[in-house]
This record gives sequence, C-alpha cells and structure tokens, in this order.
Amino acid sequence: LARGADGRDLAGRHVVVSAGGTREAIDPVRFIGNRSSGLQGYALARTAVARGARVTLVAANVALPDPAGAHVVPVGSAEEMRKAVLEAAGAADAVVMAAAVADFRPADYQGSKIKKAESAEPAPIRLAKNADILAELGQRRTPGQVIVGFAAETDDVLANGRAKLARKGSDLLVVNQVGEDLTFGRPDNAAVVLGADGSHTEVSRGAKEALAETVWDLVAARLAPASP
Ligand code: CTP
Ligand code: CA
Repeated sequence: LARGADGRDLAGRHVVVSAGGTREAIDPVRFIGNRSSGLQGYALARTAVARGARVTLVAANVALPDPAGAHVVPVGSAEEMRKAVLEAAGAADAVVMAAAVADFRPADYQGSKIKKAESAEPAPIRLAKNADILAELGQRRTPGQVIVGFAAETDDVLANGRAKLARKGSDLLVVNQVGEDLTFGRPDNAAVVLGADGSHTEVSRGAKEALAETVWDLVAARLAPASP
C-alpha cells in the first residue's frame, strides 16, 4: 500500500486508540481486571503519530511512558473508558479499541475494605455487565469513520472472529490467537485482520509495531479521501 513519499498518510486525521486493561473496583483496595500490558495500543499510538495523525490515547492502568506527540487520557474502569472513548470518537476519523475492557464489574461496590475476619466464609461477588464500547461505536459511527476492534480467541479463532466482527458492527477486527505465553506482555504478536468487506490479512509473528503499521494501512485504505 502506498504511503506517500513522506510516509505521513494520516496527516490531517484524528485517531483514537484505547490501550491497557480496565479495573473494576470491588472495594477501595481490590479490583477485577483484565490482562493487558498496553504494548499493542502504545505501538498503535506511536506509529499513528509517526504517520502524521493527531492521536488521542485512552489508557487504562498502563505502566508505560506516554508516547511522544499523543494526547494521553488516563482512565481506570470500563465506564471511565467508555466516556473518554465516546467523547473523543465524536470528531475522530478512526477508533481502534486495543484495550482489554472488563466484561463485568462487581454489582455492589463496597465502600469500606472487606475484612477477612467478618465471616467464616467469604461472600460471593455478584457481577453486572459492562456496556460494550466497541458495539456502541459501531452504532454511533459518524459518516466515513473507521472502527477497529481487537479480539483474543483461544478456539475456532477465525469463525469466532467473523461472528464477533459482524456482531460489533466494526470495519476491521484484529484477531490474536492467545495461549498461555502467546501474547500478553510480549513485544511481538501474530494476528489475522478480518474486514467487514470480507478481506483477510495475515500478519506473521513480529513486533507489535509491524502489526500496528498493518492496521493503519488497512484503516488508511478505508478512510474517505482527505478534505482539501
Ligand atoms: N470491548 C469493548 N467493550 C467491552 C468489551 C470489549 O469495547 N465491554 C472491545 C475490546 O476492546 C475489543 C473488542 O471489543 O476491541 C473485542 O473484545 P472481546 O473481549 O474479544 O469481545 P467480547 O464481545 O467481550 O466477547 P467475549 O469476551 O465473550 O469473547
Ligand atoms: Ca470480553
């Protein structure tokens, strides 16, 4: 794919990237969380800056330095991420949801620390469902906006990926095969990127930057021509 002489094919574009893993509070000191280092989302933000985009990076619980040139919005929970992403998405050309968003949160937040001595048996934690940000982005999409999701699957990777892409109403879904040590916290990643138009792009194992560049190639090809 042609990226132009200066490589800045995203100049004049605003992109939103989410990264990291949300934390859902049980009490003031405990949470339910998702495993995500944020490395893939940060690679997406860095590469988009390098390609000329204005980048908003919504980062949940990430221990990484802010990428130079990106506007970082730190969030904690899925609901905080939802608000930040939807607000930034209103004026964005593309939104890439690389974050691991917790599907559930504790239904009843305990305002005081739960003490182990209070009862012999610990009380079960009831869960409530979080809003699906990616599905909401698909429903609220502005004309010409490109929406990208990520999915980590363990079985029937491609079939699950196709079904998820359709369910979410995204343009692209980056599907990783995960096993114990295959993705999390590693600098490299292998994936297949499924397109709503039926496209299928394999990305062999390599740096998360390489996968990020492929994602931006696919996004750039789907953006409406830049307004002069
Ligand atoms: N996602 C989201 N909001 C949620 C859950 C997930 O925006 N509440 C996004 C993730 O950021 C990712 C995509 O949806 O880009 C797919 O996440 P995944 O967990 O694979 O999909 P789910 O629909 O939650 O399905 P499941 O976990 O049951 O496989
Ligand atoms: Ca999920």
